[in-house]
Amino acid sequence: MGKAQHQDDTAKETEYSLVRVKGTWRCRGGKKINKGTADCVSAAKVYESTTERGMTWTVVSPIVFTYKVTETRGLLDPSNDTLLLGHVTDPQQLEDIKKANKPIRRFVVVDQEVFKIYGPKLTEYFEANGVIFKVMALPTTEENKSMEMALKILHEVNNFSLDRRTEPIIAIGGGVCLDIVGLAASLYRRRTPYVRVPTTLLSYIDASVGAKTGVNFANCKNKLGAYIPPAAAFLDLSFIQSVPRRQISNGLAEMLKMALMKHRGLFELLEKHGCMLLDTKFQAESSLYGHSGVQVASQATRTAIVTMLEELAPNLWEDDLNRLVDFGHLLSPALEMKVLPSLLHGEAVNIDMSYMVYVSHELGLLTEEEKQRIIRCMVGLELPVWHEACTLELIQKSLQDRLKHSGGLVRMPLPVGLGQAEIFNNTPYEVLHRAFVHWCDELNISSDGSCES
Ligand SMILES: NC(=O)c1ccc[n+]([C@@H]2O[C@H](COP(=O)([O-])OP(=O)(O)OC[C@H]3O[C@@H](n4cnc5c(N)ncnc54)[C@H](O)[C@@H]3O)[C@@H](O)[C@H]2O)c1
Ligand SMILES: [Zn+2]
Repeated sequence: MGKAQHQDDTAKETEYSLVRVKGTWRCRGGKKINKGTADCVSAAKVYESTTERGMTWTVVSPIVFTYKVTETRGLLDPSNDTLLLGHVTDPQQLEDIKKANKPIRRFVVVDQEVFKIYGPKLTEYFEANGVIFKVMALPTTEENKSMEMALKILHEVNNFSLDRRTEPIIAIGGGVCLDIVGLAASLYRRRTPYVRVPTTLLSYIDASVGAKTGVNFANCKNKLGAYIPPAAAFLDLSFIQSVPRRQISNGLAEMLKMALMKHRGLFELLEKHGCMLLDTKFQAESSLYGHSGVQVASQATRTAIVTMLEELAPNLWEDDLNRLVDFGHLLSPALEMKVLPSLLHGEAVNIDMSYMVYVSHELGLLTEEEKQRIIRCMVGLELPVWHEACTLELIQKSLQDRLKHSGGLVRMPLPVGLGQAEIFNNTPYEVLHRAFVHWCDELNISSDGSCES
């Protein structure tokens, strides 16, 4: 280290608070701030230091994100005002909006397939509430998850002359639609609030809960994106009734991920009622199935959401690389890209999790019986547990890529028993290899999709 650099490191630093007096912000040194004369003291600080080369000002400005994830029933029932006002957190603002008696304006982007089913109800909802609205129904597929699609939306948003202070953009659809619209909103006028309405199981329990937005770029999934949460996510389970069965299994994979990582009760619920959830598309009262009157569907989705929120809220920008939610996401991105579009995201995640269960077993973290229970549960959820494209080469390459991007450590969340997990670093190759051999021996399934296990 050179002398000048050393001087930089040891430079004396002065801390300033930011205080607003009569509408003007000023730096104030010293620990004691006269709160009597200030009309506001910011949580931000400025640190000033002097070196031979000049001054450095270091700004530390905490940014707080507040967003709601709200369950509702009958979201498109004209008497339910959640879609229009559920994002407003300040009671005074809510009162002002209601008193103003001005027509509400909303820009809505909806997945084209969802629009085919729910379009008339949506239009009716806005008309009944006297809303001035523009609905853009778009083919928001994984292949179209691009910057071009985001720009197409932005042109229309601009034509609508949206007021970013009071008119959140509404996204209604699966994870693809929610991700594209979220990114578009975070770009428009630097940050326009948006609202998420998930209509697939996967987006209901996963994409709606966190802060991530994005589009695919340079042949990589979600390469462009931002960590900007929505103002609110409104969850109505009734949308799931029209989702194809395979897409429900797809969502169940992410739910099973949370169960395996941190909630034994959720695992047992999926083990016992997985098939019923698939048959009824999350619409049935479980009392029909002998469960104590509580709706299994809402218990399962609530647990998945809470466990996910617990992991995401303290790490909204994913600065901490030790993430249990990464389970199933170490090998699956490469697998997904390799066989696109034959495997859905959740299916690729499940194949990754299935292999990792064998790694856990090989390390003595799961008993044979626990391993078998997990695999049986996956099969019960109609998820693939093995794939010929998930080769040892793909596994090694994925882990090497991870090594490059994660500071020289491959952090592997692994189940240690049912509903508990720990992160293991740099698992030895011999373990990965032995696990792979057993995984293939036991789960190389017959062509009709049935599993020997
Ligand atoms: N932002 C995040 O934190 C996050 C988390 C997980 C996944 N994702 C992203 O989400 C995407 C996957 O989401 P997805 O599984 O919802 O896929 P998707 O958005 O492609 O939807 C799946 C299919 O279901 C159809 N569909 C949607 N709702 C329907 C309904 N109610 N009835 C009938 N059909 C319906 C869609 O038209 C589509 O064909 C991926 O791009 C992934 O990267 C994001
Ligand atoms: Zn995922």
